[in-house]
Amino acid sequence: MQASAFQYMYDGYGNTFLDAYNNIPHVGHGHPRVVEAGQKQLAKLNTNTRYLYDLLPKYADKLLSKFPKSLDKVFFVNSGSEANDLAIRMAQKHTGNKKIMVLEHGYHGHTQTGIDISDYKFNNPKGQGQKSHILKVDLPGEYHYQEGKISEAGSHYADKAIDALRSNKDGLAAFIAEPIVGCGGQVPLAPGYLKALYPEIRKQGGVCISDEVQTGFGRLGSWFWGFEMHGIVPDIVVLGKPMGNGHPIGAVVTSSDIATSFSNGVEFFSSFGGNPVSCAIGLSVLETIEEEALQERAKTVGSYYKNLLKTLQKKGFSNRRCSWRRSLSWNSAY
Ligand SMILES: Cc1ncc(COP(=O)(O)O)c(C=O)c1O
Repeated sequence: MQASAFQYMYDGYGNTFLDAYNNIPHVGHGHPRVVEAGQKQLAKLNTNTRYLYDLLPKYADKLLSKFPKSLDKVFFVNSGSEANDLAIRMAQKHTGNKKIMVLEHGYHGHTQTGIDISDYKFNNPKGQGQKSHILKVDLPGEYHYQEGKISEAGSHYADKAIDALRSNKDGLAAFIAEPIVGCGGQVPLAPGYLKALYPEIRKQGGVCISDEVQTGFGRLGSWFWGFEMHGIVPDIVVLGKPMGNGHPIGAVVTSSDIATSFSNGVEFFSSFGGNPVSCAIGLSVLETIEEEALQERAKTVGSYYKNLLKTLQKKGFSNRRCSWRRSLSWNSAY
């Protein structure tokens, strides 16, 4: 590829491609508003968060306005991996426990902690294997459950996960899951699963983490965050990919309680996390989503493609979906 603009990419032979694959340039490749925001700020001030500057609280307030009131603190970092790493540190500090419950096929990043909590990585034939502080439960995909019993899938998988939790004698730091499991083949968690499971996680002393690196920022159409589609509010939310439209930025959003426990430990500092250029870019992405009504657009385009897929399904493609999905999950390039 030689160049890109909005939804298009161009190769060196003059071919134009519709980019339906990239899940990072959220508001379009090289969006002029985002480019201008970054260029202008880079010429003004670019430093780190040991200094005070207006853009940091301005962007933080705007981002937090998209969350329920209980989630009122944000920590800026440079990637989704870094954000998940930090989220796990916060959960372990807050709870005093080490154990993390994860989902089959989950992927949460490339740092050592990221790999420890990612079945997609540690369970790869060349992977490190499952560590003793990891408790893995089945992927609660509604279409992995018995045909015709889709409405029971959520409670079925939640009951199994609750049984696994009750047999755990080590105490729990966190449960982490994506609302739609990307490396599992974009599998939405079965309805009711998180609603049934979250109270038990908390009863066992753990916190609930939603990894919204892929699902966040309005791309689900009907919801701005993936956790909203499950009718629950997590204790920690992890952000990345679309947040900077290609510029490296991530964040951990959490409650005052968890942020306070974390602040009582070793000081948190990141040289580049929350720098003015990243904040300017992040803010321009949020403004573009709003001004161009991109969440609504995702709903319209998403429904259009969903209907086309339903037509294909009626033609008999449904029987092949599981083998198709499994090969996709092992070959996808996340
Ligand atoms: C769900 C999820 N979490 C975390 C990450 C890691 O983010 P990054 O690649 O920005 O480190 C990814 C990346 O693909 C992801 O899909």
